[in-house]
Amino acid sequence: MACSKLFFSCLLLQLTFLFLVPEVAHGQGLKVGFYQKTCPNAEAIVKEVMGQVMSVAPSLSGPLLRMHFHDCFVRGCEGSVLLNSPTNQSEKNAIPNFSLRGFQTIDRVKTALEKACPGIVSCADILALVARETVLATGGLSYDVETGRRDGNVSILNEALNDLIPPTTNITILKADFAKRGLSVKDLVVLSGGHTIGTSHCSSFSDRLYNFTGKGDADPTLDSKYIARLKLRCKPNDQTTLVEMDPGSVRTFDIKYFDLIQKRRGLFTSDSALLDDSETKAYLDLQIKTGGSTFFEDFGVSMVKMGRIGVITGTAGEVRKVCSKVN
Ligand code: HEM
Repeated sequence: MACSKLFFSCLLLQLTFLFLVPEVAHGQGLKVGFYQKTCPNAEAIVKEVMGQVMSVAPSLSGPLLRMHFHDCFVRGCEGSVLLNSPTNQSEKNAIPNFSLRGFQTIDRVKTALEKACPGIVSCADILALVARETVLATGGLSYDVETGRRDGNVSILNEALNDLIPPTTNITILKADFAKRGLSVKDLVVLSGGHTIGTSHCSSFSDRLYNFTGKGDADPTLDSKYIARLKLRCKPNDQTTLVEMDPGSVRTFDIKYFDLIQKRRGLFTSDSALLDDSETKAYLDLQIKTGGSTFFEDFGVSMVKMGRIGVITGTAGEVRKVCSKVN
């Protein structure tokens, strides 16, 4: 009896391990200050280069923050978004990534790091560190970034098409897409707050203005005055015009985007969708009511969690010498 009890507890333990390991592996091997011994100035170098970039091209803050998100949601945070393909078949070549900008900034940071500590700092970590600098440069709070990611050497166009979340996504799918990456409903609403900075192409939301149900109609959940304003800027089929997602404070990290969502002026269906869930709506309401009492800190916490998705650590993968090419 004792023996079979033991057998069953062992089995239970093994099963628990089997199911828990993937969860535990999320972010395993990362730590704050990973480069402290191998490249002590790594984070200072990123900060310095980003300071220079932000002073001449502040509009890169949005794209560079978004780049880390697009890296993490496809194959994990392992730098695959940066890889070039001779046949144009890498993630970069997928439609949702056409609007990414700032690859040269990543190269510039990498060059500075390679000069100081050759072969040490991964491109995946550079993306995470650069993202923090964009938050800081726009008035957000600093947070400790875990490092120690290694770079993957695979980048597939179709994976970006399948894994990047379209702006037309409803709340049920948004929650599921975040959950399968270990991110909570709170992370969803907090990270969507990243839309407080940056711009969007008209084409990312013009269905809501001109053809919501295929009958030439507008999205009834979008404020009609806002629709009229957006229509002035975005003509049907416009593929090039950019609009500020958080008009008037596009380069300031603040809670105004939550305010817009509450006023039914969130640009994407995926933003408006945050009103369709009691938890995300309660978060929006609270931040608006309290002037963003916790949003700034929450953002750092959720960014760290996002930065753990599917990382490669230890001796797996590589540290690329040039971020757009495998070694
Ligand atoms: C929740 C799902 C999300 C969806 C569906 C989504 C969708 C989009 C879309 C369609 C654009 C406009 C692209 C364009 O037309 O140029 C955009 C821009 C942006 N997104 Fe998101 N996004 C999501 C989550 C996030 C997250 C988690 C972050 C970062 C934490 C983020 C940061 C940004 C930023 C900063 C921009 C502005 C980029 C620029 O200025 O070029 N987004 N997003």
